[in-house]
Amino acid sequence: MSAPAITVRNLNKSFGSLPVLKGLDLNLAPSRINFIIGQSGGGKSVLLKHLAGLLAPDQGEIWFDDRQMAGAAPADWRALRMRMAFLFQDGALFDSLSVGRNVAFPLWVQQRADWRAAGRKARERLEELDLAGAWDARPGELSAGERKRVALARALIMEPEILFFDEPTTGLDPLLSEQVDGLIGLTLARTRATVVVVSHDIAAALALADQVAMIHSGRIILEGSPETFRRSGEPAVRQFLAGDSEGPLGFLD
Ligand SMILES: Nc1ncnc2c1ncn2[C@@H]1O[C@H](COP(=O)(O)OP(=O)(O)O)[C@@H](O)[C@H]1O
Ligand SMILES: [Mg+2]
Repeated sequence: MSAPAITVRNLNKSFGSLPVLKGLDLNLAPSRINFIIGQSGGGKSVLLKHLAGLLAPDQGEIWFDDRQMAGAAPADWRALRMRMAFLFQDGALFDSLSVGRNVAFPLWVQQRADWRAAGRKARERLEELDLAGAWDARPGELSAGERKRVALARALIMEPEILFFDEPTTGLDPLLSEQVDGLIGLTLARTRATVVVVSHDIAAALALADQVAMIHSGRIILEGSPETFRRSGEPAVRQFLAGDSEGPLGFLD
């Protein structure tokens, strides 16, 4: 197995009478950093949940390489999710466990590894992220940046082939955002996973992404290299690039 390409075809999803995804097509490149950008409330998290099998589409197809997963059995999604890791905004660490045990936790639970074997791997991941000294600390004793790195170490311990980041820098100060942005590049170099970053931070997308896709009105209106975006004459893209990413709905984040 290796990092897959992910392809979405004609994805439709409504909540009650509110259509959120309206025939969305998307191509995510294997072993690359793929950004999905767009305004707050535009459906980025909803899209990500479909890719993780946490929401079922009303209509459409979701391909991982040559496997179509929309409508697949829960057991098939569970197997696929073993190849995925998620990094959410707050990192969601366990405050009562040491850093070492936080990082070892997925191995211990998902693979029933004993603490000793899980601990060895956890130590490796922490060393890679310059956190070897934090082994015995509780998350609450660390800085916000260190906590992000611990969360990343935990996400990487299962050696995922697909890595999802949902708004990794929202709410962080600029310095910390820069550190987290650095971690995204580092993650790709270490794992060669298919990295998918959902963000309304256009500057980060243009700086870090191999591929960018912009969601607008329930569809992907443009996908391509950062250069494609800089050159685009599409009004919605221009508006977003001009700094309207905080636009009328930005305060909702
Ligand atoms: N489980 C849900 N039930 C009803 N509405 C939802 C649900 N999840 C998301 N939505 C709605 O879908 C729209 C898109 O949300 P979301 O994907 O979270 O936006 P983004 O991540 O781009 O900020 C919003 O209007 C939101 O209120
Ligand atoms: Mg969101």
